[in-house]
Amino acid sequence: MVKLKVKYICQVCGYESIGWLGKCPNCGYFGSLTEIKEEDMEKLEERKDIKTFLIDEIESEESKRLKIGLKEFDDLLGGGIVPGSLILLAGEPGIGKSTLLLQLAFSLQEKGFPVLYVSAEESLSQIRFRAERISDKIPSVKFLPENQLENILEVLKSNNFLVVIIDSIQTIYSNNFSTSPGGIVQVRECTSRLMNLAKNINTAIFLVGHITKEGDIAGPKTLEHLVDVVLYLEGDRYQELRILRAIKNRFGPTNNLALYEMRDSGLREILDVSKKLLEERNRNVSGALVVPIMEGTKPILVELQSLISRSNTTFPRRISIGVDINKLALILAILEKKLNLKLQDKDVFFNVVGGIKINEPAVDLGIAFSIFSSYYDIIFPEDTVVIGELGLGGEIRSVGNIEKRLKESQKLGFKKVVLPKSKVSKTFEDLILYPISDIYEGIKIIWGNKWLS
Ligand code: TYD
Ligand code: MG
Repeated sequence: MVKLKVKYICQVCGYESIGWLGKCPNCGYFGSLTEIKEEDMEKLEERKDIKTFLIDEIESEESKRLKIGLKEFDDLLGGGIVPGSLILLAGEPGIGKSTLLLQLAFSLQEKGFPVLYVSAEESLSQIRFRAERISDKIPSVKFLPENQLENILEVLKSNNFLVVIIDSIQTIYSNNFSTSPGGIVQVRECTSRLMNLAKNINTAIFLVGHITKEGDIAGPKTLEHLVDVVLYLEGDRYQELRILRAIKNRFGPTNNLALYEMRDSGLREILDVSKKLLEERNRNVSGALVVPIMEGTKPILVELQSLISRSNTTFPRRISIGVDINKLALILAILEKKLNLKLQDKDVFFNVVGGIKINEPAVDLGIAFSIFSSYYDIIFPEDTVVIGELGLGGEIRSVGNIEKRLKESQKLGFKKVVLPKSKVSKTFEDLILYPISDIYEGIKIIWGNKWLS
């Protein structure tokens, strides 16, 4: 068999080709394929010493977790940092990744765990400025201004840091490759070398990864399968709320989240998430209502808002923030067909308050009621929450975690819940339940018969 001397790897998506192409057939980028020589390929595929283990020889990671001391962050990780794990913190530039990890570094160092902060994109004086903002008494965290991988590895090997922060992975490069930093080959290579070292010296490593609004250029997505934990820091740069989400976690629950406020002195944890989200709630406005959603194992209450207005264009607008636009389109179609709403000449704006993104079907009914409420300009009762998946025929389907959702609603002072019929009982602690089997029943219960023409 002829051995290939070179191959071409797309720097954007990782697509491999045996010949050079001007445009990547996978992601459509122009000029993104870069030549990788055979010796480089071997380096990429290099494997360290191969060994087998008996289960008794393996220590459980559970007992050795490092508690950061930031409660929500510890919970999110499943009870602290697992030594030797590789954690990716991804987010848009300016969202607060460096701030969050500097706070983490300070908290760990204060507890006596030695931390190294590798700054590959900011000068030490910039970091000093940030440190002064977030702490009066700055703990003795070590900083390393360096972006060459081999030098970083050297420092890690000759010291005993328990936690190392690399800010950011896109600005680190290895001498082994001629390609530029930030490209997929560099990012992958640097990450896998750091991964190997992390496991060998039992140091936990946090990697900062930038993503862009459009998705990601040579970004964290390609790293997700390499690392143990993937965290996303999200939110609106111009608002103070930040959401830290665990997308993947080999050592704990996924889809959990922690909420923060960006203050003048760094990020502050929000302990009562639902309360914070409902703080500035719209009470007497049509189109607004509250739904209990599940974020991982956590129930939280969020406000949904709709605004339906007459459209001045041939193609009425459909804008959705926080819910997939296709889901909105589907619910609008059900409302048009089943409840005779005339939406073809209306603009529809839909928003989930607080920058929360919802994927679960349990909000369908809430979205439908929110639109119905705005369409007829009728207020949804402020003491009621809605749970349920909406089927294409207008039927309401059951959803999981009903009890947790009810508990949280009760805690926040709600009195009534409209929910799927399969839940038979009529009360839950102090809540009055209204089980329904289709959307007509729901409308009747909330606003009465006259809206069902
Ligand atoms: P930063 O952590 O540098 O973001 P990233 O590393 O994700 O690019 O945070 C940048 C923003 O946060 C910047 O606009 C300033 C703001 N900020 C505050 O509002 N308060 C603070 O205490 C700090 C440190 C930053
Ligand atoms: Mg930064």
